[in-house]
Amino acid sequence: MTDMRARLGHAELPNPILTASGCAGAGRELAQFFDVARIGAVVTKSVMLAARAGRPTPRMAETPSGMLNSIGLQGPGIDAFLQRDLPWLLSRGARTMVSIAGSTVDEFAELAARLSDAAGVTAIEVNISCPNVEHRGEVFACDAGAAAAVIEAVRARARYDIPIFAKLSPDVTDIVAIARACVTAGADGLSLINTLLGMAIDVDTMSPALAGTTGGLSGPAIRPIAVRCIWQVRAALPDLPIIGMGGVRTGRDALELILAGATLVSVGTAIFHDPSACVRIARELEEELTSRGIERLPDAVGLAHESRKAARRRLAGTARSAVGRKP
Ligand SMILES: Cc1cc2nc3c(=O)[nH]c(=O)nc-3n(C[C@H](O)[C@H](O)[C@H](O)COP(=O)(O)O)c2cc1C
Repeated sequence: MTDMRARLGHAELPNPILTASGCAGAGRELAQFFDVARIGAVVTKSVMLAARAGRPTPRMAETPSGMLNSIGLQGPGIDAFLQRDLPWLLSRGARTMVSIAGSTVDEFAELAARLSDAAGVTAIEVNISCPNVEHRGEVFACDAGAAAAVIEAVRARARYDIPIFAKLSPDVTDIVAIARACVTAGADGLSLINTLLGMAIDVDTMSPALAGTTGGLSGPAIRPIAVRCIWQVRAALPDLPIIGMGGVRTGRDALELILAGATLVSVGTAIFHDPSACVRIARELEEELTSRGIERLPDAVGLAHESRKAARRRLAGTARSAVGRKP
């Protein structure tokens, strides 16, 4: 059997499958289906400083092979999270990656400082797909300078031994430029990808399907985009830990992201119709790796890049010998 252990900063995980932020609350809802310590880690819904109600309903719409959501950053705020959710996750032996979101750089920094004083934080995922209220509402993740400013501030206030992952948006022209800016600013890894901005219109009512008009597209429809983003970032920054996500429903899907360069894989939308999806996908992934004779999970990370290089070398060799041959 393949050795499925993976790393998240200093923590050893039993396997590389995580929940995706916003798709499993703070893990409590999943505990009725399986022991939350069995999966790699729980990634929490993005926590903000203050409690928020989220956006108006309807805020979910089904689309072909996907889903649109405009939940917004609904949640009880950092105080309730620290009092109630984090101690619960710790008591269950779960590894916890806390996702944070803010509307100013200072809010992100304050959240990092508050989490650094608490027990049970394995890593911080910085959700920079939020509007920057100090800059005309432009999404932090869509501007390299704004993204870097958030990561630099979070790194400065977070405890040195807590790894920081910047979660990037695919809604940019050059994701590698944003990735590089975040890494230069101190990110220890990247989470790829957040939802894509989409919209659906109900042709019966002849009005937008979501009360918030636009929403984030997730599910299998976005997996090729996730694979492309992970591939591009892995090619540019080969040693960087990447948490891959976007449309993973099976162990085979998870393997696709790993072959592109993901070191860990988060599962989001699939949890809504199969709450045990993370446990099932971890088992299926192990079977996929074992059947390919891969002894250790890290041996599969980015393997598709190696196969591509080997194929290129083979082609170049064939071309050279063809040139050398007499007609
Ligand atoms: C209902 C819903 C809520 C989400 N909330 C958050 C969130 O709070 N923070 C965040 O960083 N991403 C959030 N996401 C994005 C997911 O974490 C993930 O990046 C995206 O959905 C792609 O993965 P998937 O196709 O497996 O769902 C949310 C996604 C969904 C579907």
